[in-house]
Amino acid sequence: MTASPWPRTAVVEGGALLEVGGVPVTELAQRYGTPLWVVDEDDVRGCCRAYRSAFPGTEVAYASKAWPVVGLMQLAVEEGLWIDVASGGELHTAAMAAVPMERVVFHGSNKSEDELAEAARQRVGRVVVDSFDELKRLEEIGASRGHRFACWLRVTPGIDAHTHEYVRTGHDDTKFGFTLSAGLADAAVETAARLAHVDVVGAHAHVGSQIFGTDPFGANAEVMVALLAAWRERYGLLVGELNLGGGMAIRYTHEDHPVTPARYGEALLAALERACSEHGYPVPRLFVEPGRALVGPATVTLYRVGTIKALPGIRTYVSVDGGMSDNIRPALYDAEHEVALAGRTSDAPPVPVTVVGKHCESGDLVRERAALPADLVVGDLLAVAATGAYGEAMASNYNRVPRPAAVLVRDGAARPLIRRETYEDLVARDVPLR
Ligand code: LLP
Repeated sequence: MTASPWPRTAVVEGGALLEVGGVPVTELAQRYGTPLWVVDEDDVRGCCRAYRSAFPGTEVAYASKAWPVVGLMQLAVEEGLWIDVASGGELHTAAMAAVPMERVVFHGSNKSEDELAEAARQRVGRVVVDSFDELKRLEEIGASRGHRFACWLRVTPGIDAHTHEYVRTGHDDTKFGFTLSAGLADAAVETAARLAHVDVVGAHAHVGSQIFGTDPFGANAEVMVALLAAWRERYGLLVGELNLGGGMAIRYTHEDHPVTPARYGEALLAALERACSEHGYPVPRLFVEPGRALVGPATVTLYRVGTIKALPGIRTYVSVDGGMSDNIRPALYDAEHEVALAGRTSDAPPVPVTVVGKHCESGDLVRERAALPADLVVGDLLAVAATGAYGEAMASNYNRVPRPAAVLVRDGAARPLIRRETYEDLVARDVPLR
């Protein structure tokens, strides 16, 4: 991981972003328009490789919910990863990307019958079962189609990772999974044992997202191995696969200091081996599923400044041509993303400004406390760091603002990943009354 929030091939001079992937950002903005997601291919591939080498003997799955787009799934598969999907739409995207279905993991806390039927039809590699209702649905669908689902039981391990409330999942009071402390995990094993079309081949536990330290991962490994050992003792069941989730943190600003992929790997594998030897349990086939850490750092959003409003004694608002419709994270989680001048350098001193979007909502922030050169003018480009994860994935058409294009850059060339949405796209599903 680089020491700055910018992608690894970024050229940054005097704090201004000038190039990514060998392509000047001015050229990208001119050719593809703004807002624009610019994805550094070397960075995505580098992150995939970093995770694969940090976790030897482990399957790394790309949690595609971070950015479920065909091209990125294809890159992840080329780098030897499995693909996690969390809905029928993501599963369809994986099919369009020609992801080998045996390497697809299907998540979701409330998968529909149609989604599960499609999983059976496509013969997806693993289904992560989240509830008793789902066990029932799987059995019915499996029986009617003569399909046996290879499943992992999603366990809620009772680990409180200190991260934003909306992205914590491992503690007890959550909608996700079979809660260990409430006895639901054991009950799920007992229920599944009576089903002919559900084969429990593994267990899964994800403790949250954007977790800066390694402790919650180690604790997760310990709790889960103890659980597998208890299942062996109680039910004579030897569960051979364990997925310990994603949630590895990335750098959004210069103030963030996440640990490296190598450190996550060492800590997690050491905790796993320690726990297995303690319980005399054979080391399971391990899976991890980072999303953010694979595509987040690789991406910058380019915006163009449209208005600058100076309120003497209060603050200066700098408005860009996108905002909460392409990055809801600042509004939703108070997330901070580094913002910098792009496409030209400046010797002017930095001044504090608030960068906002173009939507009709006061919470439409890009960054509340940014420092940008005093000579910033309308028409300048701004770059926002680390927007690849959960940017496009959570984008909307609020105010009927078309969603941006995305391009992949490498070695001085750009390739489109997503075309810009048009006004025709925006009305394509509207049904006129006359
Ligand atoms: N596995 C499971 C079961 C998950 O629920 C998630 C994320 C991941 C893996 C991947 O987590 P990651 O490595 O990307 O942190 N929209 C929020 C993040 C929501 C995460 C949801 N689950 C954000 O923008 O921060």
